[in-house]
Formats: sequence, structure tokens, C-alpha cells
Amino acid sequence: MNLKPDTLRKIDEAITHYPVKRSAALPLLHLVQEDQGYLSDEAIEWIAARLELQPINLYELVTFYPMFRRHPIGRRHIRICRTLSCALTGGYPVFEEFRRQFGCDLNEVSADGEVTIEFVECLASCGSGPIVMIDDDLYENVDVAKARVLADKIKAEAAKRP
Ligand code: FES
Repeated sequence: MNLKPDTLRKIDEAITHYPVKRSAALPLLHLVQEDQGYLSDEAIEWIAARLELQPINLYELVTFYPMFRRHPIGRRHIRICRTLSCALTGGYPVFEEFRRQFGCDLNEVSADGEVTIEFVECLASCGSGPIVMIDDDLYENVDVAKARVLADKIKAEAAKRP
């Protein structure tokens, strides 16, 4: 597994937080997904070996929890909150605008490999919705016009990439 040194450090530390290694399964799945963008078979087998579990123990978790991904995502990750406050203030039209801008459907990778758009549950900023996260950055009060500006920014950054 080709994980970033920082991810490996966090994994080592996470394991120390639990009396038995197997209890670190969920944190490790999150850390590896954050590092790789998704959980491949190789990643699941690596985590299983690290925690002295059988891979099936982890496949059960990965297929049960909807936040785990089994397929690669785009270079940029757009997450739109769809929980009540954000849904009522316009999260769905914001999603439609991102979909239109990048021509890709929910949870798919755009044709140029640039983005994946996902709905997520509450991002803990309910008073200033709709909330959008792009990679690690949180954006508040995102209406359709602001979604267009954010999409333009992503496209401009992609155009600059060598
Ligand atoms: S409902 Fe969207 S951030 Fe809480």
C-alpha cells in the first residue's frame, strides 16, 4: 500500500487509542479512504492485516456504511449537504448546477477525471446553508450563482495543472 507518511503516522496513533486492535477498524477505514479516495481490495486487505482481522470483517463494515466508497473518485471532491436545513435552503438546485457544470451524475467521475459530486449528511454548519465542501474547504450560503463561481474556479485550477 502506498500511503502518505502522515496517514501512516495517524494509523499508528489511532491503533493506540483502543484496548484491542480490531476496534480501530472504522478509524482506519476512514484514514485510508481519505488518503486514497476510496477503499480498494488491496486497501481492505492491508487494513485487515494491520489489525489482525480477516478481510471479510472489513468488507462487512464497508458495505454496511454508506460513507465508504469502493470506487475511485475525481481529483476534486464536491460534497453537498442534503440534510434538512440545507435541503430547505436550496441544496438540491446547487447540486443540479454542479451536475450541469461538470456534466457528471451523482457519485460518478466526470469524463475528464476532474470531479466527483456527492450528497452528504449534515456538515455541522446548518445555520448558513446550503453548505458545500470542496476537498477540505467548506463553503457557506452556496446558491446557484455561487456554485457557478466555485465550478469556474475548479475549471480554472484544472486548466493550470501541467
Ligand atoms: S443541515 Fe447542512 S450543514 Fe447541517
